[in-house]
Amino acid sequence: MRLAVNVDHIATLRNARKETDPDPVHAAVLAELAGASGIVCHLREDRRHINDRDLRLLRAVVKTKLDLEMAATDEMKHIAIDVKPDLVTLVPEKREELTTEGGLDVKKVRPALKSYIADLKQHGIPTSLFIEPDDEPICIAAELGAEFIELHTGKYSRLKTHADVHNELLRLRRAAALGRKLGLRVVAGHGLNYRNVEEFKFIADIEEVSIGHALIARAALVGIETATREMIRLLS
Ligand code: PXP
Repeated sequence: MRLAVNVDHIATLRNARKETDPDPVHAAVLAELAGASGIVCHLREDRRHINDRDLRLLRAVVKTKLDLEMAATDEMKHIAIDVKPDLVTLVPEKREELTTEGGLDVKKVRPALKSYIADLKQHGIPTSLFIEPDDEPICIAAELGAEFIELHTGKYSRLKTHADVHNELLRLRRAAALGRKLGLRVVAGHGLNYRNVEEFKFIADIEEVSIGHALIARAALVGIETATREMIRLLS
């Protein structure tokens, strides 16, 4: 299972003092040098962490794969078409949330998403939909023309008992298999950390995980190269 590193919280730390350091662009370079397969950033409507300058510089320096997480708004579509990330991951976004809370309600926004995904595709940008690991959103994602799905692992990461964890792993395994069967590429993320990836990594149909908070938290103590290498070792 490959690792994509989300550098949003390097920008959170920078913005806490309205300074220019630490720089998410430096973090991305170091994470790539340590073996990350991709860099992820979320340009939020309120620019609370990553800003437009970061995105443009990340596009210029990232050599693996730049995954732009964003809400499906017109503003973001224009930015994506201009910047041309290697992948756009569409996520739900609420101003008051601390982090992305649930998967996209693809059923509710189905007609709008279809043309949104088609527009991005026309400009050579593949789309991933961040969804719950359930049959319905996975089937809708395939029908909408998305190339990827990102399965939401938030619930998995919060469960405590062995039985609950086991059941959620089964749910994720089934969801990943369905996605692959429908021709989708399957990745996953949210809340994954150095403890809970141990069992998770055995889901063969999930090709990559996107990890931010836990990795950047560790990077604050041991450095981002070490934090990235340790996670890659756990995932392999
Ligand atoms: N995937 C998506 C779609 C996300 O929105 C986030 C959070 O930005 C992540 C993965 C990473 O989650 P975490 O920071 O908990 O590792």
